[in-house]
Amino acid sequence: MLSLSLLGLLAFVVASNAASQSQSVLSPNVPRYGREKQNVRTGTTPYDDGLFTPMEHLGVLSETQFTTLQHPFFPKHSVRIKKSAFCDDTVNSYTGYIDIEARHLFFYFFESRNDPAKDDVIFWTNGGPGCSSSLGLFMELGPCRALTANGTTFHPESWNSNANIFFVDQPIGVGFSYADYGEFVSTTDEAAKDIAAFVSIFFEHFTQFKGRAFHMAGESYGGRYIPEFASHVYDQNVELVEAGLTPINLTSVMIGNGMTDYFTMWPSYVDMQCSPASVFPFQSISSCVRMKQAIPRCQKWTKESCVDTFDAMNCQAARDFCDQELQEPFFDTGKNPYDISKDCEGDIGDTLCYPVTKFISQYLDQVDVRETLGVDPSVGNFSSCSGPVGSAFTAALDIYHETYTHVAQLLERDVRALIYVGDYDWICNWVGNERWTLNLEWSGKEDFVAQELRDWEVDGKSAGKTRSASGLTFATIHGAGHMVPYDKPQEALQLVNRWLAGGDL
Ligand SMILES: *[C@@H]1O[C@H](CO)[C@@H](O)[C@H](O)[C@H]1NC(C)=O
Ligand SMILES: *[C@@H]1O[C@H](CO)[C@@H](O)[C@H](O)[C@H]1NC(C)=O
Ligand SMILES: *[C@@H]1O[C@H](CO)[C@@H](O)[C@H](O)[C@H]1NC(C)=O
Repeated sequence: MLSLSLLGLLAFVVASNAASQSQSVLSPNVPRYGREKQNVRTGTTPYDDGLFTPMEHLGVLSETQFTTLQHPFFPKHSVRIKKSAFCDDTVNSYTGYIDIEARHLFFYFFESRNDPAKDDVIFWTNGGPGCSSSLGLFMELGPCRALTANGTTFHPESWNSNANIFFVDQPIGVGFSYADYGEFVSTTDEAAKDIAAFVSIFFEHFTQFKGRAFHMAGESYGGRYIPEFASHVYDQNVELVEAGLTPINLTSVMIGNGMTDYFTMWPSYVDMQCSPASVFPFQSISSCVRMKQAIPRCQKWTKESCVDTFDAMNCQAARDFCDQELQEPFFDTGKNPYDISKDCEGDIGDTLCYPVTKFISQYLDQVDVRETLGVDPSVGNFSSCSGPVGSAFTAALDIYHETYTHVAQLLERDVRALIYVGDYDWICNWVGNERWTLNLEWSGKEDFVAQELRDWEVDGKSAGKTRSASGLTFATIHGAGHMVPYDKPQEALQLVNRWLAGGDL
């Protein structure tokens, strides 16, 4: 879910979601983080020798208490983890926190329904910025869904069908993640350091997963997060190897309806309303003409005042202009920004246009559920998306940073990339995503651009269009909105299984 702060409705969202965020002031006394390097040993002896005893197997963990994991390479980080019997009784599941001094990130981990001892590992995050990955878990691709008043039901098309999978509430301030002094992370770069450390601590301890193929996946603002997270993991491998540790076997990134490039996405808002890109044009001709005319000014102004140089007031004015000219006409239609085939259900600040999200909150606010999961008592009422986190990222201009360059760099290092897009989404639509994949500068560009879009099929029927070359795959999913696995669970699972198997779609 792309948080509403990006939709120019910020005040609204903060008002409805801020209740659980009691502290929003950055504590001046809390040290900013960054991995301490003074303890790093280099040399030929394995770093672990005599210093570190891995947990080895998840099976030894308790259901009632957290076990704390530490690692000398990451002296400021530790992981609290417990077994948590819920959601899917066909597999082992675990929940816990990664603790980074005063910051605490909540995660869920489910073993594969197929062969946990051999299957790949997927990391999943939702977007926002500020939205909880429990939306992905309980609404989209998790082993169970919580979409009625009756708690969870088994989800047969879960992505743990053939993979072990993490869902992480990040950054701090999102979902069940919290900070002792209420501070927030406001950039993807900061968030990436915690994620890379977490991944490494996990694989170091649970030797059963060491060297296993690892895929980093995300949706929406995940299009900004994932390329940067994966790049941190990749670069961190150099340090791990120097220290005698096992590198993370980063194999691919998967981005669903991603916000990877602002500068191709905003203009594409016009294509989605004023051309038959997905549905028959539904915007008035006069609005379409006006929007078209605003594009060059929006692009130029944003680039000059927010990217090339940073002029806070001018940048804010540019953003207001672009939002007003290129987003507001859409909202005036009353359509669901995550699915243009529908009208928004309920008030967007309250339901995100999907009233079923309320059941997830209800479920996650139950005392017994929180106990099972080990949610820290200091965490207030659950909110799907955190207004303060969204605002902090907006204030930091995080969205304007280049992320597609990270994707190109990963591709150059044989880390594959799957860019998939439900074709009814407006907010992070397929037109904009196709554009940046075609514009991308990398050594496979010529091959990739030369491919025609072709159908990919599920059960003999077209499930969408795809183009693929040299490790980069672009794919649409017909009839799906922003949350592809929610709308098209079977097609989404086929897509991910084929991708994990390393083949064409
Ligand atoms: C949490 O939710 C409960 C039940 O809806 C409500 O009574 C309470 O005021 C909420 N607490 C906060 C801090 O918003
Ligand atoms: C919830 O459970 C009750 C009692 O078992 C049942 O009558 C009802 O139909 C269920 N509701 C849904 C939405 O599944
Ligand atoms: C990484 O994963 C791939 C795919 O499973 C596997 O072929 C390869 O051997 C693994 N690499 C390492 C270094 O373990």
